Amino acid sequence: MRTQVGIIGAGPAGLLLSHLLHLRGISSVVLETRDREYVERRVRAGVLEQGTVDVLNEAGVGHRMRREGLPHHGIELRFGGAGHRIAFERLVPGRSITVYGQQEVVKDLIAARLAADGEVLFEVSDVVPDGFETDKPAISFTRADGERVRLDCDVIAGCDGFHGVSRPAIPPGVLSVFERDYPFAWLGVLAQVPPSAEELIYAQTDRGFALHSMRSPTISRFYLQVPPDEPVANWPDERIWAELRTRLETVPGFALTTGPIIEKSVTPMRSFVAEPMRCGRLYLAGDAAHIVPPTGAKGLNLAVADVRLLTEALAAWYATGSTDLLDGYSDTCLRRVWRAQHFSWWMTTLLHTFDSDDAYGRRLQRSYLDYVTSSDAAAATLAENYVGLPFEDVP
Ligand code: FAD
Ligand code: DHB
Repeated sequence: MRTQVGIIGAGPAGLLLSHLLHLRGISSVVLETRDREYVERRVRAGVLEQGTVDVLNEAGVGHRMRREGLPHHGIELRFGGAGHRIAFERLVPGRSITVYGQQEVVKDLIAARLAADGEVLFEVSDVVPDGFETDKPAISFTRADGERVRLDCDVIAGCDGFHGVSRPAIPPGVLSVFERDYPFAWLGVLAQVPPSAEELIYAQTDRGFALHSMRSPTISRFYLQVPPDEPVANWPDERIWAELRTRLETVPGFALTTGPIIEKSVTPMRSFVAEPMRCGRLYLAGDAAHIVPPTGAKGLNLAVADVRLLTEALAAWYATGSTDLLDGYSDTCLRRVWRAQHFSWWMTTLLHTFDSDDAYGRRLQRSYLDYVTSSDAAAATLAENYVGLPFEDVP
């Protein structure tokens, strides 16, 4: 079997890369260990930056997002018994975010790939990227029917997320790793209830962080800061609603609408960067190369920014033979990655409760929350990072 770009992983990074390459006349095969239904049902991110929305629209996969996505022009920071709006329209005029579930993006991309006769092979196993330090890379894998296959390609794109095989396949000594763990996790909840507010609410309380988000006029999304490695079984629905009410019903007149919970899961919080995002002809993109804690809503958006650059670099190489953009891929991506790393770490420390914090630490946190909600200069910093810096500013 042969293709131009062998792509490992059918998450947003791998699927979008495959589609963008197709639009440039470059062939690819996407290999995914899970089945299609699993990938399309995996509930994760919800906040799309303007740049991400633009890339999806330009790629012709934005029809449903334009119809069903919810444009948002502000978020609320809630603490100390009051809500404070960060008004994007005033602080970063003309820029906004769209709330649209990651699994909807994934569904739209899979549909587009299949409609264009793209090859997305689900339920493969034992995926082994090989030969990427030569000019003849290949990926070996076992098809769903049990047949062992070798996929020869020009380059390999490792888009297989944090727990994939691409990054670990890189020989020791090539990558430098930078990381930070947090002493808490997020319990994510999808509920069949109308949102209780029009905008996202990021709540800081003494009992921990809570986030009110949404997916549609009838589906809400919530997150609660919980201890690390917390079993989901510790959180029956009644406890979830009680905790959400305690952390969110802290301002006069706000009442949480409760109802059936349709999905819940616990996500660890981690910051991680592997540099460089390349080894020979293996290029890493998205969570395979970097992870941010979700407080800044940046992970999916970074994955999109990576594959946008990788597409440009591969298209230039195929068209002219120039490796300039490919050689610059890692450094260019890492500028945006590190900006998002800082923002995500900063949002996380601003809004979560750290058991290790002493009274001094808690006062510092409160001081910054007061500042960011009273100074336009500070609020603009939050707003411009949250809506996402334009590609031309951090290419
Ligand atoms: P993934 O989505 O992890 O996809 C990797 C794919 O590779 C998977 O389908 C996996 O099954 C497959 N795979 C793994 N190993 C192999 C293998 N050996 N062979 C073949 N395939 C393999 N980001 C935002 O931008 N905004 C948000 O609001 C946001 N909120 C989040 C909330 C939560 C609770 C979580 C968990 C994440 C959130 N993120 C958010 C982050 C975002 O979901 C990820 O950054 C995004 O999924 C990264 O996409 P990816 O394609 O790089 O990796
Ligand atoms: C959502 C996820 C996030 O990580 C975030 O910061 C905001 C919203 C969401 O899933 O809706």
